[in-house]
Amino acid sequence: MGKIIAIANQKGGVGKTTTAINLAAALAVLDKKVLLVDADPQANATSGVGIKPEDIIHDTYECLVEGAPVREAILSTQTPNLYLIPSGIDLVGAEIELVNLEQREYQMRNMLAAVKEDFDFIFIDCLPSLGLITVNALTAADSVIIPVQCEFFSLEGYGKLKDTINLVNQALNPDLEIEGVVLSMYDQRLRMANMVIEEIKNIVSDRIFETIIHRNSKIGEAPSLGQPVIIYDAASKGSINFLNLANEFLTIHAGQGYVHP
Ligand SMILES: Nc1ncnc2c1ncn2[C@@H]1O[C@H](COP(=O)(O)OP(=O)(O)O)[C@@H](O)[C@H]1O
Ligand SMILES: [Mg+2]
Repeated sequence: MGKIIAIANQKGGVGKTTTAINLAAALAVLDKKVLLVDADPQANATSGVGIKPEDIIHDTYECLVEGAPVREAILSTQTPNLYLIPSGIDLVGAEIELVNLEQREYQMRNMLAAVKEDFDFIFIDCLPSLGLITVNALTAADSVIIPVQCEFFSLEGYGKLKDTINLVNQALNPDLEIEGVVLSMYDQRLRMANMVIEEIKNIVSDRIFETIIHRNSKIGEAPSLGQPVIIYDAASKGSINFLNLANEFLTIHAGQGYVHP
């Protein structure tokens, strides 16, 4: 039990945090106990689930670099079953400070080992970089999900990401698997939208999740209220997209029957 999934892509604004928050929240609503680890100094996952700086006891930086007790860092959120290890701007320093640590690539793996069995799934929301924090996340993870925006040129950099995943796989974490690509921010009003998807399918050799996340205003609004979209507006298209993605994810993992909401 306790599967760790990194959500990674060194491009910014492709839907990593949106996927991390909303896939985690949808699984929580489906009765899985889920931990979200915010590994981006921008802390969008932290604010996106309604955690404010004053709520934080220890953040990812303190656990990763200073050895703060990870159990004490875990906060509950307004979404039942969804827990968070928050981040803050101090995580910027981790990229440099980790370099000096022994076993510098294994800090996140060691940090999460203590709590892995307490959760069904642990999602790590990575920062837009292939530096040491992302390498730590990939080394800690059992698998990686790659959000890709439904746009031309969105696969620029994909080769480099795959190289990094392969390097981690060979040198640090032989068990790391690529879970698949999640197509995000699909806009059916654009005539090019289907051409873009065809192009992505031609290039990507990994699994592409059947569930496509559409561009949806509720998904965009929810983080400013500190809520996953399923809490903000359960009936919205965005919410249904993420419930479908969660069901597809569960089908892959446990053969738990695909259930349309
Ligand atoms: N499906 C979507 N519909 C509407 N807005 C979205 C959607 N996915 C992401 N966004 C918005 O796009 C921006 C970038 O997404 P985000 O998940 O933060 O990307 P990343 O974490 O990769 O930088 C955010 O403002 C987010 O709210
Ligand atoms: Mg992000």
